[in-house]
Amino acid sequence: MNDKWWQSAVVYQVYPRSFADSDGDGIGDLRGIIQHLDHLKELGVDVVWLSPIYASPHDDNGYDISDYQRIDPLFGTLDDFDELLAGLHERGIKLVMDLVVNHTSDEHPWFVESASSADNPKRDWYWWRGPRDGAQPGEHGAEPTNWGSFFSGSAWQLDERTGEYYLHLFSRKQPDLNWENPEVRDAVYEMMNWWLDRGVDGFRMDVVNFLSKDVSLPDGVIPPGALYGDAYPFFAQGPRIHEFLHEMHERVFAGRDDRYLTVGEMPGVDIAEARRFTDPARGELDMVFQFEHVDLDHGPGGKWDHRDASVLDLKRNLAQWQEGLLEVGWNSLYWNNHDQPRVVSRFGDDGEHRVPSAKALGTVLHLMRGTPYVYQGEELGMTNVPFSTIDDFRDIETLNHYAEAVDVLGQPADEVLVALRRTSRDNARTPMQWSDGPNAGFTTGEPWITVNPNFPQVNAAAARADADSVFAHYRALIDLRHRSRLVSSGGFELVLPEHEQIFAYVRELDGAALLVLANLTGRPAAYDVAALPGWESAEVVLASGGTDTTGLTGVLGPWEAVVLQR
Ligand code: NOJ
Repeated sequence: MNDKWWQSAVVYQVYPRSFADSDGDGIGDLRGIIQHLDHLKELGVDVVWLSPIYASPHDDNGYDISDYQRIDPLFGTLDDFDELLAGLHERGIKLVMDLVVNHTSDEHPWFVESASSADNPKRDWYWWRGPRDGAQPGEHGAEPTNWGSFFSGSAWQLDERTGEYYLHLFSRKQPDLNWENPEVRDAVYEMMNWWLDRGVDGFRMDVVNFLSKDVSLPDGVIPPGALYGDAYPFFAQGPRIHEFLHEMHERVFAGRDDRYLTVGEMPGVDIAEARRFTDPARGELDMVFQFEHVDLDHGPGGKWDHRDASVLDLKRNLAQWQEGLLEVGWNSLYWNNHDQPRVVSRFGDDGEHRVPSAKALGTVLHLMRGTPYVYQGEELGMTNVPFSTIDDFRDIETLNHYAEAVDVLGQPADEVLVALRRTSRDNARTPMQWSDGPNAGFTTGEPWITVNPNFPQVNAAAARADADSVFAHYRALIDLRHRSRLVSSGGFELVLPEHEQIFAYVRELDGAALLVLANLTGRPAAYDVAALPGWESAEVVLASGGTDTTGLTGVLGPWEAVVLQR
């Protein structure tokens, strides 16, 4: 595979609502981002992925879009947007937009028309179905299938006007578009081309592996203890998904140069499918976000049912993805985004070892083969949040789960709260911590969600002034990717596969190699890689602590990471 520009690139995700507020309304906005572009420049990232800024009722913080070609007034204007794009481009940073086309908002004019009658021309743009055979609309169990929504409750909502139900895999304000209808696809491609013509550099595609559904819409098997059937087999990697993504590629990207980036968010995708989606010869996507490594700490009951994931679990899984996409395809590398709790609280140590554990986790992620993504605040080692009561949460998924768990399933409220504190998406959504000033420098107003009380210690101003900070380490990792083809294009081989504390691997290219060794625990970890040939005279290219151990046998301190080159 010839080198692509994004092999040596690092992407930074901005969640606009929580990044920086310029007008004091407590909600982040485009001008707030413009004020902080130099932070991104200093970090050294190549691309910004902007979570949705389009017109939206904000049922799901902008992932429910009512107009794809307007900026929500909460965030600013199209002029602000153009200024942001120009400011990024001036700094050599590309801009990737969020493309949310599995569903629209129920307030999108397409849906408003679709819902207006059973025979309007847009009826078939969404998934409408009558009640189950023999049942009356609205009756318990009358929904067309037993599918549950990701945000609790049934995936079907009755529309009283026509007595039919529409499908919504997410909130009832996020009806699923019917991609079987070519008019829907045309409208989406037209909109994508409009943004690219305006100068944006690609798209991150929301749950894009859900676009093609099994049109017979079968019931799913109900897992023990669950309220709804498992419908994944009927909407994830559906029958026409590769056809749709190839068509999108042809209609939007094929006639353009290769400056663009496409990354598909794909819950539930496996390695074999990811290889197909990202095989350049197939003309679908550049890379995908897979979920296996961030699902390792989910128990049989799903995301709210915690189980411990070991270092072995983590490195085995990541290594499988590395190996699986070595010859064909490409990995996206991430620990965090706006849907995941903070990695330092999850797989690291947000107490005594916050800084070294953030560095160690960053090291193993950034030096793998793939394109790394940094989520705002990750470069500061931001942590989960000590939310006190349910009233502190804002996220629809979190609030709906709480209501269903407590009111429908009768689970004790305090136990449910423990799970929310650990796993809620709101952990990632509290304001970016810029300084130790009021509201962490995020807003002069009342922030829309609480600020993490650790901001006096954990903030960008402090991190940028400290040569040993997580920020400094992330800068060094990004710089190393830019400078070293070993990092951007080398192979991957797991080393010490049975070691229970150390994640170690070799990246090799044309006879040169990097050896990455990281202790992912708070206990000292002895290692011995003396059997690896050719490492006798290696030099240290990066170390997370003060150590410059070059020994092939030795002990790594708690959360210590070392990178050697030969
Ligand atoms: C995935 C997005 O990342 C998430 O935030 C959103 O709630 C769902 N898709 C629905 O758009």
